[in-house]
Amino acid sequence: MSVQQALATAVLAATLLLVTGVTRYDSSKRYIKYEVGALSVIITAPHGGNLRPSSIPIRQAGSYSPVTGCNYRHNSGTPDNYHCGVRLFKDSYTSYIASHIADELLTLTGHRPHVIYNRLHRSRLDANREVNEATLNVQEAIHAYNNFTAFINAAKASIGGRALLLDIHGQTHAANWTELGYSISKTRLNTGSFSAQHSTIKAIGMHVCNTDNACFQDLVRGSSPNSLGYYLSNEGYRVVPSPVFPSPGGNGYYSGGYDVRTHGSRYSGVVDAIQVEIPREERFSSVRRPKVARALARAVKYFMDDHY
Ligand SMILES: *[C@@H]1O[C@H](CO)[C@@H](O)[C@H](O)[C@H]1NC(C)=O
Ligand SMILES: *[C@@H]1O[C@H](CO)[C@@H](O)[C@H](O)[C@H]1NC(C)=O
Ligand SMILES: [Zn+2]
Repeated sequence: MSVQQALATAVLAATLLLVTGVTRYDSSKRYIKYEVGALSVIITAPHGGNLRPSSIPIRQAGSYSPVTGCNYRHNSGTPDNYHCGVRLFKDSYTSYIASHIADELLTLTGHRPHVIYNRLHRSRLDANREVNEATLNVQEAIHAYNNFTAFINAAKASIGGRALLLDIHGQTHAANWTELGYSISKTRLNTGSFSAQHSTIKAIGMHVCNTDNACFQDLVRGSSPNSLGYYLSNEGYRVVPSPVFPSPGGNGYYSGGYDVRTHGSRYSGVVDAIQVEIPREERFSSVRRPKVARALARAVKYFMDDHY
């Protein structure tokens, strides 16, 4: 190979690296995957995994004590499904949607976001719970769990400031809408009594609205300032909360779980987090699946352009 050819090959390799980014794993087991990005957006898919290694037992309910609560540990005490039940179903196609949102953001902005996938099936690791319920104290699962957390923290550190984390899930409530979760309860959305303080987008809420509550209500479900729900509605989707569906009413609604509470700005920091629960109708159709991912990417881009 000539010097010119070698140089051309090196430039090509560097360009590919820049475009496709670096992929990291927890270990040779590849339970957790981290696609390193270059945008102030982090996408997580804690429930999309499909790996069921026999070395990790199926998660089970914890045992219960009225004094100490739930004890999540395999073969310890009697599993109590009433008090300490665990969810085992995966959120189908959410890994696919996470990676397609990232691809579309690359197309729209020239940079791909950080993406972190739990590749273990939820029956082996629930990466959206505190560590005991998540792993039943199985060491191999704890390692994977710690890697999932460490990759999110690495993404935050690499961004080094204000960012938006989207935690991608799938819901099977009957309303055929995407539920955006800010750790604002259904009751509070229904009654309109909420503020930035207890939300997972507290940082951007205070930045854009300070203590103006009417402003924050618009940031969550209205326009001016525009909400993520506003932008996704404009793409032709049913979304709650949004200007079209400001609150869930009597329908099922996920307000946001462990990951957005832990990694969003509710308790500290300047990384905001929104849980995105995509309905079955948009996930199970191979035609609709890539479309909802692209629409979400556009909505996120407009939301980021406004506020970050
Ligand atoms: C990631 O997982 C590997 C293999 O299981 C483990 O050795 C390592 O300590 C984990 N990393 C973290 C940050 O927990
Ligand atoms: C679900 O809602 C979308 C709009 O967000 C609509 O286009 C689609 O037809 C609906 N699907 C079903 C099965 O109701
Ligand atoms: Zn989920």
